[in-house]
Parts: sequence; C-alpha cells; structure tokens
Amino acid sequence: MEDSVKADHVAPFDPLSLADHHAAERRLAEVRGRCPVSQPHPRMHFVAAHQDVERILLDTTTFSARSNFRLDPVNGAEGARPSGSLPTLDPPDHANVRRRLREWFAPRTLRLLEPRVRELAAAAVLELPVGVDFDLVPTSKRMATRVVYALIGAPQEDWVQLQAWSDVLHKYLPAPLQGTPEYIAMMNRLGEVLEEYRAGLRAADDTVVSGLAAAVEAGDLAPADALTHIWQLIQAGTETTISLITNLVHALLSRHRQWQLLLDRPELVGAAIEESLRRDAPLQYVMRTPHHATDVSGCPVEYDEQVVVGLQSANWDESVWGPDALEFDIERDHPTGHVAFGKGPHACLGAPLARIEAQAFIRELLSRRSEIRLATGYVHELANELMVRRPERLLLHIPG
Ligand code: HEM
Repeated sequence: MEDSVKADHVAPFDPLSLADHHAAERRLAEVRGRCPVSQPHPRMHFVAAHQDVERILLDTTTFSARSNFRLDPVNGAEGARPSGSLPTLDPPDHANVRRRLREWFAPRTLRLLEPRVRELAAAAVLELPVGVDFDLVPTSKRMATRVVYALIGAPQEDWVQLQAWSDVLHKYLPAPLQGTPEYIAMMNRLGEVLEEYRAGLRAADDTVVSGLAAAVEAGDLAPADALTHIWQLIQAGTETTISLITNLVHALLSRHRQWQLLLDRPELVGAAIEESLRRDAPLQYVMRTPHHATDVSGCPVEYDEQVVVGLQSANWDESVWGPDALEFDIERDHPTGHVAFGKGPHACLGAPLARIEAQAFIRELLSRRSEIRLATGYVHELANELMVRRPERLLLHIPG
C-alpha cells in the first residue's frame, strides 16, 4: 500500500528549482497530467494547466497582481504592496495607468517607430562577424535595449552608458534593484532627461519621456511615477525580447527543415514567431495573489497566498495543442492562443513592438545571412534564470 502511494505521488513542480526548470518539459507534462495545481512551498501554488492559467489571468476580481514578479518562497505574497508599476496594479489604478501608457503601443505610433526598428535590426545583422563563431545573445541584447531606448526617448548619446548600467543591474536579480548604485545612476540620468523635456530644453516629440513630461507639467502625474513607468518599460521590453529572438533563431537553426521552409516561404515569419513564443515562452511565469480564499480547479488557495501562473506550462498543454505540443512547427495549424504575452487586462502592452522587432531581425537574417548556422559542437544550455527562458549563449557561424 505504502509503495503504491509513493508510486502515485507526483512531487509538485517547483518554480524556484533550476533543476526543475532545466528538466521542465518532462516535469511539467507529468504535473499537468497528474496534479495541475501543486504546492511546492508553503503558501505557494503552481498552476500548470492552460484552462486554469487563462481563468486566473482573466479574473482580476479574485486574483490581485500586487505581488507580480516576486518569487518569494518564505513570505509568500504577504506584505507585498503595489510598486506603482503597471504589472503590479489592480483595478481601478491599473486601467488608469495602462490608458496613459498605451498610446505608445498604438498602431499609429508603432508605424512611426517601425523604420527605426528596421534600421537597428539591419545594423545588428550587418555587425555579425563572418568566418568566426560568435554569440548572438549580446547582439540581440544591444538591439532590444536600443529599440526600447528609442521608444522611451533616451538620448542616443546615453545608450552605451544606460546599457552598461542595465547589464550590471541584471546581474543583481532577483535581489531588489532599487538602492543599487547603478539603479540610482540610471534613474538620475532619466530624471534629468525628463526635466529637460519639462523645461522645453528638448523639443516635444513622440517618445514616452516627452509624453510623460507633458503629463507632469500639466500636474497630472508625479515625476517619481513617470520614472517608475519609464523604468518598467525598460525592464519589461529587454530580457523578454532577447529571449524571443535567441529562442527563435535557435529553434530554426537546430531544425534545418524549418529554416529551409522559412527561406522558401518568408511569409511564414509571423507564424514562426508565434510558434517560438508558444514553444519557448520568454517569460515562464507571472504571479497572482487571491483577494480572498478561493480555489483553482478544486484546490484551495487562501487569502494572500502566492499563485505562480505557469505560462510555459500552459503553452505546452497537450489538451490544447495535441500530442506534439513540444514540437516546434512553423506550419502548426493553430499557432495562436498561446499565453506567452499573458491574457486579459495585464496582457503585454509591448507585444506588437516585440513582434515588429523579431520580424525585422529574422527578415534581415533571411535576406542577408541565409547561410548562417549553429557553430560546430554548439551545446544548447538554458540561462541560469528562473523566470526567463533563453539560451545562455547562442554560438553561431556565418561561413566566410
Ligand atoms: C517577446 C517579448 C515579450 C514578452 C514575452 C512579454 C511578456 C509579457 C507578459 C507575459 C506580460 C503579462 C504580465 C502579467 O500578466 O502579469 C507582459 C506585460 C507587460 N509587458 Fe511585455 N513582453 C514582451 C515584450 C515587451 C516589450 C517590448 C514591452 C515594452 C517596451 C513590454 C511591456 C509590457 C508592459 C508595460 C506590461 C504590463 C502590462 C499590464 O500590466 O497592463 N513587453 N509582458
């Protein structure tokens, strides 16, 4: 009897374990099949099934976002208070801030930014060395950060310094960044730019800093909140896009037929991007905490406990994508419906921009560097990160 209990027991998926993270494909399939809501730590629940993930993301009445992005096994969500940044706000504050920020992601604004994104993508591809092995991660990082700096309106002469600060900041994660010298330096510089727009020393334009400076001048927004929003866009838009680009390039080059298919039919680029987002979700989880005791698929969740919403697991759910859910197939019948950009009121504001960036980069690669391949002997290893899924390094080669 004892043995059969042990044999049936499924240890819950632990989002805090890198061992689980690296073996995620096998572990999550097991968890989805046998215990789709599990409790890896006291006061922490992991949700693996697509239908539960969607339901939680859509239900802001029951589930708060105030502890979002705090993977904290000890304290759960207790004490977490909104930081004022969009992904941690609940209604009605959330809708007010989102309304303010969404104009920079409207089709009209993005059409104005798109030529700049294409320029940055072309420059990134032209810079790739020929005849030697190179790592695509730093290249994609340079491009993704520059696109975000262009969007927010950070002066171009500051880009290298901003990137240097943000590289150091990334190394501190998941520890809090506020209070570190690099965070303070970055906020000071962005604060100066905001003040320059306010004082009319920089002409008003379509950028985020310019728009937020106008709101501050009109008495509609506190300067500190403007900086919170700017910082949040930098954070939200860089590591995620680096992951999308490197995961996508890896998936295509490690499956020669898929790369050849794209060369023959470049109109499939959009489908390839969606399939990459589904197959390798850049952001593995988001977090929610219930406003009151509730349940997820019959499993009780108490007030203020932490719910880790498994985006990647939902994207691999066989009940939605079929038995080949783990395959990367750019001709998949229904590549959309994934939750890589979330769902509901908090769904990614920057999704159209991320898609434009990935399209621009892959199209440049297809047209200028079609002979690109994985470096000989390259071994695919995931970066040592809990929340973000991407290769640690992506070693490539363009024959000379
Ligand atoms: C492939 C790239 C990206 C991925 C996979 C991604 C993923 C996500 C996800 C999953 C969420 C939902 C969070 C939640 O429900 O708690 C989110 C929210 C958000 N993303 Fe992205 N993101 C990407 C790129 C970007 C870019 C380029 C920007 C802007 C420059 C951006 C800005 C935001 C913002 C502002 C939110 C908060 C929305 C809200 O809470 O209302 N993201 N993102």
